Amino acid sequence: MSTDPKVEREPVAPLLVLLIDDDEDDRFLTAERLGDVPGKPYTLDWTPYYSEGLEAICAGSHDAYLLDFRLGKQTGIELLREARARGRSAPVILFTSQGQSRTDLEALDAGADDYLEKAGLTSALLDRAIRYAVAQSRESAELERKVRERTNELAQANAALRDADRRKDEFLAILAHELRNPLTPIMNALEILRLANDTGEPVRRQRERMERQVAQLKRLVEDLLDVSRITTGKLRLTLEPLTIQDVMESVLDMSRSQFEKVQLELIVDIPTQPVRLEGDCVRLTQVFCNVLNNAAKFTEPGGRVWLTVVPSGNRVTVTIRDTGVGISANALPQIFALFTQVDRTLHRSQTGLGIGLALVRRLVEMHGGTVSAHSDGPGTGATFTIHLPVTRT
Ligand SMILES: Nc1ncnc2c1ncn2[C@@H]1O[C@H](COP(=O)(O)OP(=O)(O)O)[C@@H](O)[C@H]1O
Ligand SMILES: [Mg+2]
Repeated sequence: MSTDPKVEREPVAPLLVLLIDDDEDDRFLTAERLGDVPGKPYTLDWTPYYSEGLEAICAGSHDAYLLDFRLGKQTGIELLREARARGRSAPVILFTSQGQSRTDLEALDAGADDYLEKAGLTSALLDRAIRYAVAQSRESAELERKVRERTNELAQANAALRDADRRKDEFLAILAHELRNPLTPIMNALEILRLANDTGEPVRRQRERMERQVAQLKRLVEDLLDVSRITTGKLRLTLEPLTIQDVMESVLDMSRSQFEKVQLELIVDIPTQPVRLEGDCVRLTQVFCNVLNNAAKFTEPGGRVWLTVVPSGNRVTVTIRDTGVGISANALPQIFALFTQVDRTLHRSQTGLGIGLALVRRLVEMHGGTVSAHSDGPGTGATFTIHLPVTRT
């Protein structure tokens, strides 16, 4: 009798073991071997029937199972496979006959924890095999429990995040509306002041200053409202037949003064032949104004910006190129995402929320078009290319 020094035995309730074996001699042999284990830690049950064995494993009635290879017309391996097909795993040791190495591999493959040759079976071998099988099965059950627990925790965290995200969207919508409400009376008051036509120079200057600030505030609020429309899927287009020239006219009306103010040269190249498309003039104007506004913001005074319109086949390509600060390769893929601003400390301009390009992309895609950005890196300027489908004529 040998004891394994690596495995400490704790004084616990006896382990319930089921022998599934149609040979009664094996039953006596096994009982004897288990009876020899010091401390008598096992209680042995026995069944000669395949079906009873299978039911027992599936019900998890015992701590461990000893399974004979031959079970009448069927085999222990078949039984194991059937148990596994029903989603049951249990600590199982398969008894094999001598020289069945192929069977041994099959046994492990079918989910047996171990296999023992009946011929050389000692009580120490049997004891150790059962203890390892039970320990292993407890360990994997514990592992499964931990995985389930962790999955559960992650699902909860995920739900909490989604909830927070939804509340953020709601907050944005409410914030935008709350900010817009006081703007209208302020703008009306400014209009009244303008009409009162106070010729005093200081009053006029202060009034104009307020008008500029209010206009800027209004743009921010409108952008915020658009963001909440994007996130809630409420952004709508009013489509009508247009020409790209109509759009560019309103774009230039709105943008030209900005370029003059910061001493940037704006070079415009638009064909005179009308290019027709189906679109929302206000939204398309917003798209190109946003891109031009960025070009102006991220280009130092004295720089240049090109606005080029080229129709070709079933689409028209609008390119806006600048000689500004450029965009690094790793920032490029992110600039169209909401709230993305590449290191704002680098840029002289401090206005903006990182919303413009996200809106641009959304609006262009809603028109069936695409937008892309290119830059050879910091200091080399940037190019924005917008394709829009044109109306067949
Ligand atoms: N023409 C450009 N040159 C360099 N960087 C740009 C240019 N246009 C956009 N970017 C970068 O993309 C970011 C996102 O732009 P945008 O969504 O319009 O937000 P915002 O203008 O409010 O910063 C900008 O903050 C800037 O870092
Ligand atoms: Mg912008």
